[in-house]
Amino acid sequence: MTDPADPFAQQTRTADGPPPGCPAHAGAVSLTGLDFQQTPSELYRTMRREHGPVAPVLLDGGIPAWLVLGYTELSYVTSHDELFARDSRRWNQWENIPSDWPLLPYVGYQPSVLFAEGDEHRRRAGVITDALEGVDQFELANECLLIADDLIRGFAGSGQVELMSDYVHPLLMRAVVQMCGMPATGDDTRQLVDDLRISLDAAEGEDPVAGYNRVGERLRQLVKEKRMAPGPDVTSRMVMHPAGLSDEEIVQDLISVISAGEQPTSNWVCNTLRLLLTDERFAVNVSGGRLSVGEALNEVLWLDTPTQNFIGRWAVRDVQLGGRQIREGDCLVLGLAAANTDPQIWPEGHVGAENAAHLSFSNGEHRCPYPAPLLADVMARTAVETLLERLPDLVLSVEPEELVWRPSIWMRGLMELPVQFTPVVQ
Ligand code: HEM
Repeated sequence: MTDPADPFAQQTRTADGPPPGCPAHAGAVSLTGLDFQQTPSELYRTMRREHGPVAPVLLDGGIPAWLVLGYTELSYVTSHDELFARDSRRWNQWENIPSDWPLLPYVGYQPSVLFAEGDEHRRRAGVITDALEGVDQFELANECLLIADDLIRGFAGSGQVELMSDYVHPLLMRAVVQMCGMPATGDDTRQLVDDLRISLDAAEGEDPVAGYNRVGERLRQLVKEKRMAPGPDVTSRMVMHPAGLSDEEIVQDLISVISAGEQPTSNWVCNTLRLLLTDERFAVNVSGGRLSVGEALNEVLWLDTPTQNFIGRWAVRDVQLGGRQIREGDCLVLGLAAANTDPQIWPEGHVGAENAAHLSFSNGEHRCPYPAPLLADVMARTAVETLLERLPDLVLSVEPEELVWRPSIWMRGLMELPVQFTPVVQ
């Protein structure tokens, strides 16, 4: 029988059974497939019931890891860097990971702030925090408004649009790229925005690695330009920061800022629009209902958070967590969505939006750097409000059950959000 404290460890090879170390027969849950894609919150509930606050899971290709589902356990993991560290080179599974593993681009080590530890992390994260602190929130809101209006003008006359590709992603990409010191329009910016999309979410026939390399090239050039002629933007503030980061360090961290900024914020907007368009509680106030937009944004962070899981942390030494024996080098996936709905913190079954103690921006040393959540809020709020103000009779063009979620372990967001409205004559 399997030791419940060590479900990965029942591994004697049978004639045609799994190889040693394979947790497939030990009740580990796969974080891939349709159930996970469409209804992850049900899966998290079942896992919590069957496995407790720390569950054995299988990542793509059957690679074992732990999903931290409990609010208390997740808070503990993220506030104890000396036990659960960020450098993925610590992983004890690298020998089982093929070179084309789909999660590799985001889990494989890169010399960026994301994988830095200790003093080096504080140096890199400090520069990003200071650079983001310099962003004027009113200017950012105004720039988002201009971009939103420009995009809405492009489809307002048609009476229908697919919002993810024609509004949400381009709006957030343009806003973040502009915050980093590139003009919001022009061929050069369009190319960067397109390459960023390809590197994160390549369509058929597109090469994500080539896209990623072109992004690096363009940002290298941007850093050079800002060294020569700094301006009031994030890149210039990083270049001029007394910590003295090298050009290459700044390029790496700019890629982190741009991709860590665009993807979750887009999905925050997406999930908020879906809530507003499908939940009767919001229906009455939808057009121009500023209060309800704020409530919806907040509720999404608790119940349908954009970064549903984050990979992750790696155990520095053998340690007990949530009744499990975690081995040195094991990978822990931060179950942010699951922790936010942990019944331990909502004992009366009432998951509410009365405070901001959710873990959607994570926690501890590596959490989303402080000014970023505020800036994300400004951008997301402007994106949602502007759309609803300009097209007040917006409705979904499909039934809510027909909406398809992205097949992503990280992000909770829709593939498409098709809507219709009364065409606006311009
Ligand atoms: C302006 C928009 C944003 C920017 C510039 C931004 C930037 C970043 C950066 C640079 C990091 C790496 C921090 C580190 O490793 O020290 C990070 C981490 C993170 N961000 Fe954000 N972010 C933004 C919006 C968001 C949003 C909207 C969410 C979700 C609601 C989010 C959730 C997270 C999470 C979960 C992490 C991982 C922290 C961890 O490892 O514990 N971010 N963000």
